[in-house]
Amino acid sequence: CGIVGVTGVDQALPCLLHGLQKLEYRGYDSAGVYLMDNNGGQAYIKEKGRVSMLAKKAEANGFIGTAGIAHTRWATHGNVTVENAHPQKSADDRFFLVHNGVIENYQELKAEYLPNVHFVSETDTEVAVQLVDKFATEEGLSNVEAFRKMISLLDGNSAYGFLLVDSQEPGTLFAAKKKSPLLVGVSDHGNVVTSDAAAMIDITKDFIELRDGDVAIVKADSVEVFDADKKPVDRKTFTLEIDPEDTNKGAYPYYMLKEIDEQAVVARNIAAHYFDEDGNLQGIGCAITDRMQEADRLYIVAAGTSYHAGLVGKRYFEQWAKIPTEVHIASEFAYDQPMLSEKPFFIFLSQSGETADSREVLDNVKKQGYPALTLANVMNSTLTREADFALPVLAGPEIAVASTKAYTAQVLVQAILASALGNPGFDLKAELAKVAVEISAITDEKESFKQIAETALKGQKSAFYIGRGLDAAVALEAALKLKEISYVQTEGFAAGELKHGTISLIEDGTPVFALLTQEKTAGLLRGEVAQVAARGANTIILASESLAKEGDAFVLPEVNELLMPILAVIPAQLIAYYATLDRGLDVDRPRNLAKSVTVQ
Ligand code: G6P
Repeated sequence: CGIVGVTGVDQALPCLLHGLQKLEYRGYDSAGVYLMDNNGGQAYIKEKGRVSMLAKKAEANGFIGTAGIAHTRWATHGNVTVENAHPQKSADDRFFLVHNGVIENYQELKAEYLPNVHFVSETDTEVAVQLVDKFATEEGLSNVEAFRKMISLLDGNSAYGFLLVDSQEPGTLFAAKKKSPLLVGVSDHGNVVTSDAAAMIDITKDFIELRDGDVAIVKADSVEVFDADKKPVDRKTFTLEIDPEDTNKGAYPYYMLKEIDEQAVVARNIAAHYFDEDGNLQGIGCAITDRMQEADRLYIVAAGTSYHAGLVGKRYFEQWAKIPTEVHIASEFAYDQPMLSEKPFFIFLSQSGETADSREVLDNVKKQGYPALTLANVMNSTLTREADFALPVLAGPEIAVASTKAYTAQVLVQAILASALGNPGFDLKAELAKVAVEISAITDEKESFKQIAETALKGQKSAFYIGRGLDAAVALEAALKLKEISYVQTEGFAAGELKHGTISLIEDGTPVFALLTQEKTAGLLRGEVAQVAARGANTIILASESLAKEGDAFVLPEVNELLMPILAVIPAQLIAYYATLDRGLDVDRPRNLAKSVTVQ
């Protein structure tokens, strides 16, 4: 979900709608806004569906306001309905609240404190705003005291980013957060609150990152922050270094295509950041490498695409740095921690730096006293701040829900980090320059992938990606790309495992994409392709140059075999893109998903 709020601006509605549009990738099943001005004017508008639907309704209403709060939702408690959209309000129409996160004990709070209150939604957020109202109107607490009292009742596991307004105190925003990101943006033409700085960069680039337990009171010309002990604190401002242009689509029809094309530039930027002109590594620091060298095992923890990038990175840490490495799904590790080695070192991989599942693990391992490094695309995010160390993956803003360039960047940065710990045995900097060139060579072949997508996947309900070794890791990511945006049910599979059960799913015409970039297993993989072809599969082989044979669907240019995952994933990204276009679906905003999942 995404939160934006503004105060002291000339026109609140367009600022908030623009912010919501930028946040839409975080959730887009419904949206809402509450606006106010200093003359008692107000408007409260919510709508199901995309932000554009809300914009239509709000613009028709005509009220603009000088302050307000807004939200785009990814449903957790309660279905997608107008009633369940945020802001939620108190029954007397006094308080309005937007919320990211989950209040675990909201049913208990409702039963204990609000037995006679009429509720219009099924959300935990409505309970929170009704509580604030009760404490302010019935108990006579000040707004900030009522807000704090509500927060103090939340179960310890609850996560929240709250933004509250009181219609009787126009222009004041009350913000609070725990385990869910919230930033205050400051400028001399109004102040803002947002869950994602990128949403507000048209207003300001100067932000204060709130910490867990903080409460902030934000007015047109002042910002006060209090810590969990209610003491005023001076949180430093940082300046976001994003060009607002980077978050625009430019001439591209979809962000995903732009982001796929950007991968060559990303590879060059990463090399330029982590290598000096003489080819020496820079920007990692001995503090990190020393701690990693001391470790007897690395634990990579991540979710989704980042987890798949970790499966590739494992090879670099094991083969070059010679440190045994395990890769774990964050949501599993959090509640089913495996037996750890004596001296573990944790690596958190995350595009957003905000994934709640990964945060839970980081919290746990910190409590156990283990060192942790976060590799994230969004620096100044929670996972980067809370780990002992952080390194940027430098993909630039990634907006499409399906991650592409962040995956590539994570793989590249892991390779560079591993090379700081042990010699890869070749000139990594030179090889990365080659990787960048070959990425472009592949993205230039869009027409081939469009054709593959439109023929092999036409009318198909299911598909497979298979490979061995590193190709099996890439197959998982390739399958995720295809299924998450085109809704073709796709499995990524270790090719040798197919025959142990899953091969029974192969029917006449089932598309099976085979990734073939690893020499040692190329022969075996050809055998597996023959096995599925014999059972009617439509096999599409993507092979690296030296392993390719006549009849293969696409020949991948060749770089060092361990870096082939960076090239092998690109056809899969483009095939997913074109298959989705061909089905007339929204490439950037697949159903049910959000880009940054800040709930567990
Ligand atoms: C969400 C996104 C995925 C992403 C995953 C992990 O589910 O839809 O694309 O891979 O979160 O996110 P992170 O920001 O931690 O990489």
